[in-house]
Amino acid sequence: MTRKLDNQVAVVTGAAKGIGLAIADRLARDGARLVLADLDATALAGAKDRLISQHGVAVETCGGDLAEQSVAEATIAAAMARFGKLDILVNNAGGGIIKPFAEHTPATLKTTIDRNLWTVLWCCWCALPKMRAAGYGRIVNIGADSVRNGLWDHAAYNAAKGGVHALTTGLAREYARDGITINTVAPCAVNTPQMVEITQKAPALAAKFVSVIPLGRPAEMEEVASMVSYLSSAEASFVTGQVISVNGGSTML
Ligand SMILES: NC(=O)c1ccc[n+]([C@@H]2O[C@H](COP(=O)([O-])OP(=O)(O)OC[C@H]3O[C@@H](n4cnc5c(N)ncnc54)[C@H](O)[C@@H]3O)[C@@H](O)[C@H]2O)c1
Repeated sequence: MTRKLDNQVAVVTGAAKGIGLAIADRLARDGARLVLADLDATALAGAKDRLISQHGVAVETCGGDLAEQSVAEATIAAAMARFGKLDILVNNAGGGIIKPFAEHTPATLKTTIDRNLWTVLWCCWCALPKMRAAGYGRIVNIGADSVRNGLWDHAAYNAAKGGVHALTTGLAREYARDGITINTVAPCAVNTPQMVEITQKAPALAAKFVSVIPLGRPAEMEEVASMVSYLSSAEASFVTGQVISVNGGSTML
């Protein structure tokens, strides 16, 4: 049986856990060969073993901080060295330091931008020349619906994720004639292990974040991965420059 992403090579960043691991799992199920990148090399090794045994696809890993140019370069180079090409880049590495703006420190502000924007800038910058040379590529960034609905305590995070949304439109136009599409998937609250922990420790806070979602619940990680899978496929050939919310209706346009 042929699968949607057979013969495709995908880099997934932030793939050691959470949404990134769910995306890696989905792309592997679709047949893609993978390079998994994350700060946490130990967790990556576990993810690699599980994906190989569960889906029978080849998997490479690359540990390090993707906010560093050299690590982004090594990650893209790993795909080229192991598989000879790079079809799909999923820029998922990130995560918020969620607090009122006045409570941020210079260090938390810098980390917020490094983690959510520089990781994406470097990976795009390193991957796009390879995709342009091949005349094909799919880039899917993970943004955030909080950029659109101005969720409480998300201002600094939104500054970084808003940059990702803006990079998406600009790059989509620049690379539109190269067979490369660039889109962003913007989730609202997602039922990650971290969200489960927040719900247990601070139920009022978790309820506040879910209160803006008409569906009345966070997304399952697989619901985000499903949209990433579609945008990563050849089938999504006429979709580019879009920020697509997977948000249970928390914003509606
Ligand atoms: N969880 C949510 O409700 C939610 C909502 C909207 C958007 N998002 C976004 O979805 C993505 C995944 O979120 P998650 O909840 O699964 O987060 P998570 O913290 O569970 O996982 C993020 C992974 O990215 C890795 N990572 C972070 N910075 C990195 C760096 N500089 N270099 C390499 N790896 C790095 C971490 O080690 C971790 O394994 C993030 O971009 C996040 O901002 C999450």
